[in-house]
Amino acid sequence: MNVPPPFPADIGLVIAADNLVKRFGGFTAVDGVSLRVRRGEIFGFLGPNGAGKSTMIRMLCGLLAPTEGRAAVCGFDIERQTDQVRRHIGYMSQRFSLYDDLRVEENLEFFAGVYGVPRRQRPERKRFASGLAGLSGRLGDYTRDLAGGWKQRLALACAVIHDPPLLFLDEPTSGVDPIARRVFWDLIHSLAEAGRAVFVTTHYMDEAEYCHRLGLMHRGRLIAAGAPAELKASVTRHAVLRVSCDDAIGALAVSGQLEFVLDCSLFGTGIEVTVRDPAHAEGRLHAELVAHGIAVTSIERGEPSMGDVFEILMDEADQKAGQ
Ligand SMILES: Nc1ncnc2c1ncn2[C@@H]1O[C@H](COP(=O)(O)OP(=O)(O)OP(=O)(O)O)[C@@H](O)[C@H]1O
Ligand SMILES: [Mg+2]
Repeated sequence: MNVPPPFPADIGLVIAADNLVKRFGGFTAVDGVSLRVRRGEIFGFLGPNGAGKSTMIRMLCGLLAPTEGRAAVCGFDIERQTDQVRRHIGYMSQRFSLYDDLRVEENLEFFAGVYGVPRRQRPERKRFASGLAGLSGRLGDYTRDLAGGWKQRLALACAVIHDPPLLFLDEPTSGVDPIARRVFWDLIHSLAEAGRAVFVTTHYMDEAEYCHRLGLMHRGRLIAAGAPAELKASVTRHAVLRVSCDDAIGALAVSGQLEFVLDCSLFGTGIEVTVRDPAHAEGRLHAELVAHGIAVTSIERGEPSMGDVFEILMDEADQKAGQ
């Protein structure tokens, strides 16, 4: 059989996935996803629960065989060269797989062994990883006694113990307080500045803005990819309208019933409404509110947030699929 070369010619490319599909029985969890990630890049992988993010990561880590398609990770074929793939990546799974009964240093030692770090290099690698994660003063602590934010940093330290060029972080900050999340993102940025690539999933929209590039998964498909600013700029057939009026609760109830309204919420003392077809929507929204006895002071265009942009892109994908 003539096996195509898995190593992408471009060595800056750490992920080259073509048309990956994963089916579980009759259910398609990942439906033909292609993407490219380069060295030094922070790639944010976003999408609602069940969109296929973790499944995609598990395929790219060589833990789950794709049903169709192919991918090279750090130049190695994810199906035929799984050992090399695993040696070149760090993986922080959605549930950190730390050993609670071990001390911090013992967890680092354990993962150094798992990832095949030679014994004589281990002290230096443990110093590097614990220093990076700010854990130097806690090496003797039992893992079970660490607070959530510290456990998460230990999980990251374990994932970089073998100095991999590519890191997969699956919801690394879920359930962690905002300050610990900031600290964690500073770590991610320092790794990227040192030339590592980071592939990270999150449900926090503020974190999406910290990524160089984003991919949006929806029902197993990658429906959009690009820099945060590019994705915002791509949204032209929808708009966010900010309505000032005398009865925000009433306006919310009316807006929620309109077929061209995608989403609406309270905003300050008024409401914010995401609409399709903005050229017509503004006048129609005004007319509907007035018809329901609401005094409208003004309707202004607002800048869509990253969360608005994702909702809009998912709505567009659904509309297209329904056509
Ligand atoms: N081993 C499996 N067998 C059957 N179905 C599975 C399996 N693993 C995942 N799925 C299904 O595939 C879909 C995608 O799951 P996946 O965990 O990839 O989503 P996700 O985007 O990571 O979601 P979340 O944000 O909740 O972590 C879900 O409907 C899930 O139930
Ligand atoms: Mg997941």
